[in-house]
Amino acid sequence: MLKITQETLGVGFIGAGDIAILHAAAVKKVPGAKLVGLWNRSQDRATARARDFGCKNYANPEELVSDPAIDAVFVLTNLESHLEYTKLALAHGKHVLVEKPVGMSVDEIQQMKTLADAKGLTVLPGHNYVYESSMIRTRELVEGGDLGTIVSAYVMYNIHHPEEVAKRYPGVVRQILTHHSYILLYLVGAPVELCAMKANLHYKEFQEEDIAMVQMRLKNGALAHFCASFAADDHAADPWTVMVKVIGTAGSTRYSYRDHVEIKPGLVHSQTYTAYAGSVANEVKHFLVDCLRLGAPPLSSLADAITAQKMIEACEESIRTGSVVKM
Ligand SMILES: NC(=O)c1ccc[n+]([C@@H]2O[C@H](COP(=O)([O-])OP(=O)(O)OC[C@H]3O[C@@H](n4cnc5c(N)ncnc54)[C@H](O)[C@@H]3O)[C@@H](O)[C@H]2O)c1
Repeated sequence: MLKITQETLGVGFIGAGDIAILHAAAVKKVPGAKLVGLWNRSQDRATARARDFGCKNYANPEELVSDPAIDAVFVLTNLESHLEYTKLALAHGKHVLVEKPVGMSVDEIQQMKTLADAKGLTVLPGHNYVYESSMIRTRELVEGGDLGTIVSAYVMYNIHHPEEVAKRYPGVVRQILTHHSYILLYLVGAPVELCAMKANLHYKEFQEEDIAMVQMRLKNGALAHFCASFAADDHAADPWTVMVKVIGTAGSTRYSYRDHVEIKPGLVHSQTYTAYAGSVANEVKHFLVDCLRLGAPPLSSLADAITAQKMIEACEESIRTGSVVKM
């Protein structure tokens, strides 16, 4: 992979919505990195965000990717446009961080991978949850055999999203189970079969699901479970706001968003779960420093994004056919 050696590593944002706020804060924390500028489709938001972030406002995406001061482009638009802007940035020799879900289909993600490989550039999927010390430690324990035989894994998500926020995204199968899929891959590996169900419990007009659950069998025979819900917060003791568990015959691990909570709204969340911004900061640091400066491979790659997308499509097939789907 091409390494970046010049003193200042320049970053440009394509898309400046909610998630751009976390990425801008994250870039600011990385020594030697600078947010040079952004482009956003609507000019009123572009102007406001460029002022807030203290960076340039490009007239169009072509101008941004042609700027020699930019080494890496963050694609932070909606899912449907990720392929177009990732290809544009790669064609201009820029490394890319693309938010999740990375693409609309396996073929779209494969196109990104083929182009990135051909150019020797890094494309880092926005798989932020794995860039947490607790996740990394869990993987080390699993890989080292310290948890014994893995018997089960759980990824739970229960964060209420009002309809006006949820309708900017796909349903929770694509929007949230994508997170669950790459987390499972990173910690314990891919499933061999799965079955999924979904429901819509609180949207009035938005037609997509606000809750989905998945049961899976892993290669070694262990079982895994996903829950993704925009339908309600979990207010009970030790809540499953975001909870990841791996249980083995010789030990078990837990990661929870509730380990650090600030009593103030966090973007679209009712409270600030510190790990949300923290995991994006860790991911951005990994991309800019470990991958681009030092040439390390990403903790979670485009190949993982392809497998995660296959899991999502298997969930959709299971929901459509009411059956267990082999992977
Ligand atoms: N990693 C995470 O935890 C996380 C959390 C939230 C969102 N995301 C992802 O980040 C991306 C953006 O989400 P957001 O919450 O910032 O959404 P948002 O709606 O706040 O912002 C999206 C921005 O993209 C622009 N846009 C929309 N369609 C476009 C198009 N076709 N071409 C160019 N620009 C377009 C809009 O003008 C807007 O400014 C999505 O892919 C989403 O899934 C990831």
